[in-house]
Amino acid sequence: MTQELTSPSPAPQAPGTGRGPGWWRDAVIYQVYVRSFADSDGDGIGDLRGARERLPYLKDLGVDAVWLTPFYASPQADGGYDVADYRAVDPLFGTLQDADDLIRTAHDLDLRVIVDIVPNHTSDRHPWFQDPELSRQRYLFRPGKGESGELPPNDWESVFGGPAWTRTDRGDWYLHLFAPEQPDLNWDNPEVHTEFEAIMRFWLDLGVDGFRVDVAHGMIKAPGLPDIGHGAQAQLIGAQVLPFFDQDGVHAIHRAWRRLLDGYGDAHGRQVIGVAEAWAPTAERLALYVRPDELHQAFNFQFLNAPWQSDALRSVIDASLAATASVGAPTTWVLSNHDVVRHTTRLGGSLARARAATLLMLALPGSAYLYQGEELGLPEVTDLPDEVRQDPAFFRGGRATGAAGPGTDTESAPDGVAAAGGQDGFRDGCRVPLPWSGELPPYGFGPGGSWLPQPADWGGLTVAAQTGDAASTLELYRAALDLRRRLPGLGDGPMTWAPAPDGVLAFTRPGLLCTVNTLGHDVGLPAPGTPLLSSAPVTVDDATGRLPGDSCTWWAI
Ligand code: NOJ
Repeated sequence: MTQELTSPSPAPQAPGTGRGPGWWRDAVIYQVYVRSFADSDGDGIGDLRGARERLPYLKDLGVDAVWLTPFYASPQADGGYDVADYRAVDPLFGTLQDADDLIRTAHDLDLRVIVDIVPNHTSDRHPWFQDPELSRQRYLFRPGKGESGELPPNDWESVFGGPAWTRTDRGDWYLHLFAPEQPDLNWDNPEVHTEFEAIMRFWLDLGVDGFRVDVAHGMIKAPGLPDIGHGAQAQLIGAQVLPFFDQDGVHAIHRAWRRLLDGYGDAHGRQVIGVAEAWAPTAERLALYVRPDELHQAFNFQFLNAPWQSDALRSVIDASLAATASVGAPTTWVLSNHDVVRHTTRLGGSLARARAATLLMLALPGSAYLYQGEELGLPEVTDLPDEVRQDPAFFRGGRATGAAGPGTDTESAPDGVAAAGGQDGFRDGCRVPLPWSGELPPYGFGPGGSWLPQPADWGGLTVAAQTGDAASTLELYRAALDLRRRLPGLGDGPMTWAPAPDGVLAFTRPGLLCTVNTLGHDVGLPAPGTPLLSSAPVTVDDATGRLPGDSCTWWAI
């Protein structure tokens, strides 16, 4: 199944080679959800060629790197997070040659490329799982409980709903923390380690600059696979250490991968990174994943989950910075991704808040992740008919009440992320294909339709419609990313809180002060300097700055 390149050639040289301060420490990384980004062939599904053609757009936007979600051979039971061949591109998305071309084009544009790696589980169509003997060594099979083994081996629930076990024709059961089509690998087997290291080398040889490690907290299970003992497990994810999540044993794997990444980087004059998608109950436990000998970054979902309140935001920011500082890692910030309700909708359906939250995020020290379409201010699509749904959780009822912002509906998306304001807690509404141009669907997404229907009123939100409109969200992102590159005080480095009225946050970075008004009405304060950029029109009269409600302003000081 593994595909060959038609013209094998040396891996392209990534921008900025060699070990140095670390390009990732302040990088802005743009998540391309390949299926929904740009379609080159008219089948209504985004693909690698489509993504490659749009790379100049991302260069112009001002990001440093692109993270591509899984495009590997897969039956697509979970949007490609069910991989059947880690070294092949699914025909839906193109060929290995297309991946190679994309990486080269990105590097020519001085953009780095991160790809997903999915080590907790494979597809049930993976050759290992298909082989009755091999599968029993490389996955987690157990006899059932009950007189004839008719009950699952323990009480663990799938993140997508229902038991985490499925019984085979042979009468035993296999573990799947996600869908039944995603059997969990047995990381006690050294062959699993060897294979994943080989997969990483395969993609590094093709030129990628790093890996986003899916379910980086899940590979190791507690010895004996003990019962949890109480229900509603979805609420516990990220709230406490579970026998299947955030076990201390995962860190040995990350240490081995860091050795691999550093060794490879040193040998090839490149800086290649690992980014953990990890759920840990506290910022301190999350920081363990980014100790100097582990991965380089971890997604900071605490920030994403924070309500739009100055005290809550400040305490999450403080906790995040303190935890990562304790291990010398940069903090990452993220507001949206393919698993959660888009932040325009999540923050109360308020584009003003979404724009302000973004400017806040981009002013904080560290690295930031953007999710495709947030730069257009896209809302969550909340009226998808059942017949177009693809999220496996939708079919398994996998959602639970969780902690989101006060005053909002509190439902959790499958990984435990607050999904307030979405259609029903499922993930298709944030995956609707991007609108690029035109007045009607598919809005330039491709020459055909789009795999999920786009709203009829997105004509004003397209890239073409917003380009050149200084009041647009797209131009706000462009201006912010441009300033972030030009102002040495942004990105990695110190920040200090400044005095501010209730409901307002103020902090300084070298040469800059950032104010965030989380209240719904404007607030006056002594103008701290000259406004450089604001998410909403800010005025300065007689040395008093008036911050509009739900706004963020960067001031030159
Ligand atoms: C996290 C991914 O972001 C999500 O989309 C996926 O369903 C799960 N991991 C399982 O791989």
